[in-house]
Order: sequence, then structure tokens, then C-alpha cells
Amino acid sequence: MTTKPKYIIQVGTTAAPDSVFIQVTKDGPYKVSGAPQLLQVFIEQNETGNSGRYASGKTFESKDEMYLCRCGHSHHAPFCDGSHLKNEVHLTEKASFEPLLEGSMEIDGPKQILTDNEHYCAFSRFCDNGNQVWNEVQMRGESHEKLTEFMVHACAGGRLLVFDRETQQPIEHAENAGIYAIEDPAIGCSGPLMVRGGIRVESANGESYEIRNRQALCRCGESSNKPFCDGTHASVKYHDGIE
Ligand code: FES
Repeated sequence: MTTKPKYIIQVGTTAAPDSVFIQVTKDGPYKVSGAPQLLQVFIEQNETGNSGRYASGKTFESKDEMYLCRCGHSHHAPFCDGSHLKNEVHLTEKASFEPLLEGSMEIDGPKQILTDNEHYCAFSRFCDNGNQVWNEVQMRGESHEKLTEFMVHACAGGRLLVFDRETQQPIEHAENAGIYAIEDPAIGCSGPLMVRGGIRVESANGESYEIRNRQALCRCGESSNKPFCDGTHASVKYHDGIE
């Protein structure tokens, strides 16, 4: 008899230890368990003016139990300070529990295959380096393959995956569980919480979303794909107020 797996884990993802997970609370903050590292990162531009790397900012003390703001109103970001209780917030989750690959399109290249689910775009813009990842994957040569991998692995929202065409396996690496409060000075705003390293995110209804190496959680409160970021922070010019 086959038993249904407890959680869906994206192909190529190395799940974080069970003790590390995030619970979405109903109309309230993210409750984080297991003390993953928590820091601020800046999207730094490269010499061509495109997203080039994440530069480390402030490190926050990580505790076994933490509450992180997802309404955009906290004066103590990235932590919740109870402001969601004083403001009219609508934080209803809208995201699907289906694996991302089921809603992804596929682009074939000579050596690699790219998959893309645009509903999970967090607007970190690593996919556009002058030439876009959808073009890079179709070009022949090691430098294009490496650039495709970089763009996919830097993508904050995890909308992209790259597969080795011959083995049909995803090109992925395990990394430590961490949560990163993104700052995006090039467009003058703060971004989502980038969640890396296979951390499980559990809905307020108790069901878990697919566990993925890269995810971006909304913290401006305005995404239409909550709890995940859909890039709306860029249009509402969300500022977290962290120095
Ligand atoms: S969720 Fe509590 S202050 Fe934002």
C-alpha cells in the first residue's frame, strides 16, 4: 500500500530539518520556528546596471520562535509589532498548493531546460542581465549555461528551475535554511522575505505549500498571491523602515 507523502517537496530541493518551518497566521504575522538565520540583504547592481548580487546588511538575532511582519505596517521590521491589529489588513492567502511545475512553461535549450511559473515572480530581476534567462538557456556554450544557472539560483521567488537536458535532473544545490529581508535600492523600495534552503511554509489552514529551495514571502501585505510575493511591493513602494 502506498501512503500519501506528508509534504510535497519540489524536485531538486533539499528540505530543511523538520524543526525549521514557517506558519502563516490568520490575518497576522509569519510564525517562524527553529531559528533559521535572519538577515537583511541588498540587491546590488552590477556594472551594467542589472541585478548582480545580494550584499549582506544587518543580521538579526534569530530565536527558536519569531514573528515576522507580513502586513507592511510594523515599525519594528522585519518583526511584527502588533500593528496589524490597529490597521485594517486583508491578508487572506490566495496561493495554490499545487507544485509550481504544474503551472510552469518550459523552454528548451541545447544543454538545459528552463521551467518558469510567472505567478511567483518577486521582481528581483536577476533573470534580465541585458540578455534574458529565457534567451540565455537557448544559446550554446558553457558561459551561457553558467549564466542561466546563476540567474535561476538568484531568482528570489523561485519561479525558475533549470534542468540538465541529458539527465533530466534539476541543477540545484543544498543550502542552509535562511530568511532574508530584501532591500532593493535600484527601485527605491524594500522587497519580500526571501526564504532559502527548503523551509516548509504552512498555511493558516494547516496545509503545507510545496517545499522549495527558493521562495519569497510577501511582507508589504499587497500581493495577490499571498503568502507569496508577486512583485507588488515595487508598485506600492513598500519601505520596511530598517536602517
Ligand atoms: S503582521 Fe504584525 S505588524 Fe505586520
